[in-house]
Amino acid sequence: MKRRSVDPIYSMCVQPSFIIGTNNEDGSYNFAPITWVSATYEKGDGYLLVISMSGNKRTRQNVIRSGIFSANLVNKNMLPLMDYLGSKHAAEGKKDDVEYGVSRGEVLDVPTLDDSPWVYECEVERSVETGESVTFFCYIRNIQMDENLSCKDTFDVDLTVLDPVIYSGRYHSLGSMLGKIGDFKNDAGVTGGSTNDVLDKFHRRRMIMHLILAIGVLVSLMGLGTMIPAILIIGIIGIVASPFYGLFSGAMCCPYCGEILGRRGFGDHCQYCGKKIF
Ligand SMILES: Cc1cc2nc3c(=O)[nH]c(=O)nc-3n(C[C@H](O)[C@H](O)[C@H](O)COP(=O)(O)O)c2cc1C
Repeated sequence: MKRRSVDPIYSMCVQPSFIIGTNNEDGSYNFAPITWVSATYEKGDGYLLVISMSGNKRTRQNVIRSGIFSANLVNKNMLPLMDYLGSKHAAEGKKDDVEYGVSRGEVLDVPTLDDSPWVYECEVERSVETGESVTFFCYIRNIQMDENLSCKDTFDVDLTVLDPVIYSGRYHSLGSMLGKIGDFKNDAGVTGGSTNDVLDKFHRRRMIMHLILAIGVLVSLMGLGTMIPAILIIGIIGIVASPFYGLFSGAMCCPYCGEILGRRGFGDHCQYCGKKIF
């Protein structure tokens, strides 16, 4: 990988998108997007949400005053709402030009967004000021997650179900789930290529296999149509050859664990090692 050094102003790293719900002084609610969000581990099962806010925006004032807020993960459907809430400062008036459903937290008395598939209810543990920003380290008092998610543990969250918006100065969406910790450690250095290279090679070979099969079928039909046995035999050879090519080139086998695919039915993932292939 060839890189070039650039000015540190290019610090827009990959950011998850959250809309932060806070209580105004008069008891009404306010929402604004904040994407400087991360997490850190405290102790036991405890994680802290880390969130940073610059300037003197209402959201920051509300968090400092009340010490509580909700962090509503933004999925693709919520992008217009996030864009709107981020384009208007609370100081310019109530953000009620568009409709959105609001509820209250289940553990903390914070406003939450009905459309969000993942909501943290947070309480500030401490804050650190750096220049014009303040970073809050917050206890996560409750998580409300989409009922469609079935997570066994903290490492078992399928982000593709959540469909989050990723921000880096521009809005992006997530591609695919690639696997879990440990799935790729044996590929490191062995293939000399990235996960994408492994999959690219696999899909290329698979395409060749399908091409051989298609040509075989086509030539066989021509043979049948013209009643010329030689053409028919060439076609049949193509049809028979394609699975052999598939097996020997690995186009019929999982590119990760080598098991023959399809024996246990087809799917996006290998039925043996669980890694995403298609
Ligand atoms: C996509 C997006 C991400 C943002 N991320 C942050 C952020 O991480 N920190 C921050 O201080 N402001 C961030 N903002 C700016 C605030 O959302 C914006 O100033 C908003 O109008 C503040 O609203 P408020 O006055 O209701 O607090 C972001 C805005 C957008 C559109």
